[in-house]
Amino acid sequence: MPFNIETYRKQKRIVVDKALQQVFRSGSNCPKTLWDSMKYSVFAGGKRLRPILCLASAEAVGLPQKESLRIACALELIHTYSLIHDDLPALDNDDYRRGRKTNHKVFGEAMAILAGDGLQTLAFEWVSNPVGYGPRYRKNLPPVVNELARHAGYPGMVGGQVDDVLAERQKPTLAKVFSIHQRKTGALLASSVRLPALLAGASRPKLDALTDYGWAAGLAFQIVDDILNETGDSKALGKKAGSDRERCKMTYPAAIGLEKSKAEVERLTREALRCLRPFGPQGRPLIELALYMARRTN
Ligand code: IPE
Ligand code: IPE
Ligand code: MG
Ligand code: MG
Repeated sequence: MPFNIETYRKQKRIVVDKALQQVFRSGSNCPKTLWDSMKYSVFAGGKRLRPILCLASAEAVGLPQKESLRIACALELIHTYSLIHDDLPALDNDDYRRGRKTNHKVFGEAMAILAGDGLQTLAFEWVSNPVGYGPRYRKNLPPVVNELARHAGYPGMVGGQVDDVLAERQKPTLAKVFSIHQRKTGALLASSVRLPALLAGASRPKLDALTDYGWAAGLAFQIVDDILNETGDSKALGKKAGSDRERCKMTYPAAIGLEKSKAEVERLTREALRCLRPFGPQGRPLIELALYMARRTN
């Protein structure tokens, strides 16, 4: 059967959503408002790209899908927390996300901050529980958790978010925006493909290939986010278009213009695809995902 990326994404979304439902199964010790606020943003219709990349990477390195689901959920929980905080008035001050009101617009700022805190810690609770892994993979768990913390934290996403905020209204330079985008978005996307390989105990060359793929595709993904903010429409995006320009954000289009930004997406995507050669047919989903990430319209 020919490979169809839309079918693949649909099927994997179902798998990911089921696993996330498991995470939110009980919540008996959680204050109800906090639980509702966390669920509101997690089940708001995101693309689930990071967990799907995680599942595709597991496929590429021969890790059974069930062994990768805790990592997949943790990635989506951390990503969702980052969006809730990113939308706060103190950061990007956005009213819409994933086609609905932002978390703080519905639950208030205090609860949105706490929902972010709750999601982040829930991610680590979930991913670090050894009971969720087969005995041959359990021993590889510490470096997985450690890397997730670093890529989500100050050396990665949080650090990138800091510079993103501090760079508002500064004169854009390519070097600066590259560094911001690598950390605020690239780091978690690189983790999405690296962590299943770390858990699987994949060979060094395979891990290196996935690393290069993840950074290239991750940067391309954020450049596309910048381009869509400039050229897309709010309804299709499910969030406000034109906001980067309004807030004088340091973006690729602001630094090098739209056309060069698009060319950079193409170049990075070609680079990402080249990295996957050693994987043969098992790398097909990752190839198609990189192409989807470059061509997406929301
Ligand atoms: C949006 O990420 C924020 C960025 C890091 C660019 P996504 O485009 O993956 O958002 P969802 O998960 O589909 O809502
Ligand atoms: C979001 O970047 C990055 C993180 C949440 C870590 P942006 O602020 O550019 O993304 P959108 O456009 O709000 O989704
Ligand atoms: Mg932002
Ligand atoms: Mg934002």
